[in-house]
Amino acid sequence: MGLFSLSNVKPILFSALVAGTALSAKTKTIKIAVAGPHSGANASFGLQQWRGATKAAETINKNGGIDGRKIEIVKADDACEPKQAVSVANLMVDKEKVVAINGHFCSSSTIPASEVYDDANVLMITPASTNPTVTDRGLPTLLRMCGRDDQQGVVAGDFIAKKLKAKRVAVVHDKTTYGRGLADATSKQLGKFKIKPVLYEGLTLGEKDFNALVTKIKSKKAEVVYFGGLHTEAGLLLKQMRDQGLKAKFVSGDGVVSGEFVASAGGKKYVDGVYVTFGPDPRKLDSSKKVVADFKKDGYDPEGYTLYSYSVVQAVAQAVKATKSTDGKVLAQWLKSNKVETVMGTKGWDKKGDLTAGGYVIYKWNNKGTYDEI
Ligand code: ALA
Repeated sequence: MGLFSLSNVKPILFSALVAGTALSAKTKTIKIAVAGPHSGANASFGLQQWRGATKAAETINKNGGIDGRKIEIVKADDACEPKQAVSVANLMVDKEKVVAINGHFCSSSTIPASEVYDDANVLMITPASTNPTVTDRGLPTLLRMCGRDDQQGVVAGDFIAKKLKAKRVAVVHDKTTYGRGLADATSKQLGKFKIKPVLYEGLTLGEKDFNALVTKIKSKKAEVVYFGGLHTEAGLLLKQMRDQGLKAKFVSGDGVVSGEFVASAGGKKYVDGVYVTFGPDPRKLDSSKKVVADFKKDGYDPEGYTLYSYSVVQAVAQAVKATKSTDGKVLAQWLKSNKVETVMGTKGWDKKGDLTAGGYVIYKWNNKGTYDEI
């Protein structure tokens, strides 16, 4: 192809050619890393991600792959540890040479790891990282398949003030980017109702005994305890509250949408009545009917972020197919300018990589150890 004819090529294709990452016949598989907590206290979330991604890949591959190329899913374990996230990100880029990242899960991992993918020009779509900073930095290769905590906190704050009509709210967080950020977003919304938390405190990840904190919450006569964090600490705090006779309502966010919450709380009776904010249940959509049935045939109810992760693989596949490229910027740009069909319905993104539609609703945990939208 002569130099002059290149000037007629659309910029998006030109960039793919320059980067040398146009999909060539030599590309054997399209490798996607599932980056998240595959070990440690949050491994149940890593498993949701893994189940969603592998099921999506299996289905796409069965139907011919991406123009004949199979998707290969590889595991990238960050244990929700920021340092481990950066080292596994380097491994995925340098050794595994992945085309895209499905992850990471925790915002505290996603943010530092995204710098690595940005440098390497690798597409990253997080199914679950909700902290605003994830997309507010404007990285050109990053998108998310979930909402933002400045939306989630508003819904939580409104619910506590308007539906629960609480005046005395204790706000506790796990000091992580996600947990603290969500607790702050919720507190900010409570402020619009002139509700100032009667207590605002961070607990330490990995600790098991929160009895002193519970005693303090009791002394403040809190009607609601709002917790920003993940299911392990949420469960322990909740159990110790109930064991100390504290009946305050417990409200949290998407960090507790795992059946493991029941185990961390010590049983179904503890989680009964807990409220959480999360995106509308994708298991109820027509677009997910077949996939949900397939999962259930395998004895698994695709809870929490499973279908989000499934959708991430579908989005990557559609972008690679349409652009015939594996260049991170080309793929991200295509996703930001087009709509994709997923098990969670049609998805589109804005320039920053946030979904253009979505939102949060309230769920209530029940005494069967599951949660329902209310
Ligand atoms: N939404 C949680 C986070 O951003 C999982 O870390």
